[in-house]
Amino acid sequence: MQSLAPIKEYAREHAVPIMKDEGIEFICKYIEEHKIKRILEIGSAIGYSAIKFAGVADDINVTTVEIDKERYEQAVQNIKAQNLENRISIHLCDALIFETEKQFDLIFIDAAKSQYIRFFEKFKHNLAPGGVIVSDNLSFHGMVDDPHLQCNRNTVMLVKKIRKYAAFLRNNTEFETEFVSRGDGISISRKRTF
Ligand SMILES: C[S@@+](CC[C@H](N)C(=O)[O-])C[C@H]1O[C@@H](n2cnc3c(N)ncnc32)[C@H](O)[C@@H]1O
Repeated sequence: MQSLAPIKEYAREHAVPIMKDEGIEFICKYIEEHKIKRILEIGSAIGYSAIKFAGVADDINVTTVEIDKERYEQAVQNIKAQNLENRISIHLCDALIFETEKQFDLIFIDAAKSQYIRFFEKFKHNLAPGGVIVSDNLSFHGMVDDPHLQCNRNTVMLVKKIRKYAAFLRNNTEFETEFVSRGDGISISRKRTF
């Protein structure tokens, strides 16, 4: 795999939010240890995390969905530059209307924070037996635990949505969730076995 430094640099210059190093390394390790092979990602941005996931092993396939045309086009270029077109399938689409019959071992939610519950409910049906739904930004730059860091009305609203999502996960009778304080806060939800 070629260096991903230019992708990170592009993200920094164009203010594209991509996963933090600590969070992405945690998920990549999880993928490796649990022998995850089929991944669905909600929120590709410029393809950084999809490329990292596909880089864990040669037999991993990633399906990823991005709503923003400019980011999607940049992601397509980045994926091509890594020769990963045959293992990363990217779709320009609102994930809320994206349909797939496929089953996935890991579904990664990293898109509009306000829609996390809807993404979870929509894609839980695509989870293969034993699969997990992983979500990022549960800490939202520390603002979820420290209200003093919330700087404007927009972030206050987002933090409210994330708290609501965390409560949804905690009280979920169908899935049990582990909350991991790595990167920007990660949750791992697994279907309960009764
Ligand atoms: C945090 S970024 C994703 C970062 C990426 N996973 C990474 O770490 O490289 C979130 C992305 O989700 C996209 N997004 C937001 N709402 C979406 C939706 N409804 N469907 C698909 N993509 C969406 C945004 O345009 C944005 O590029």
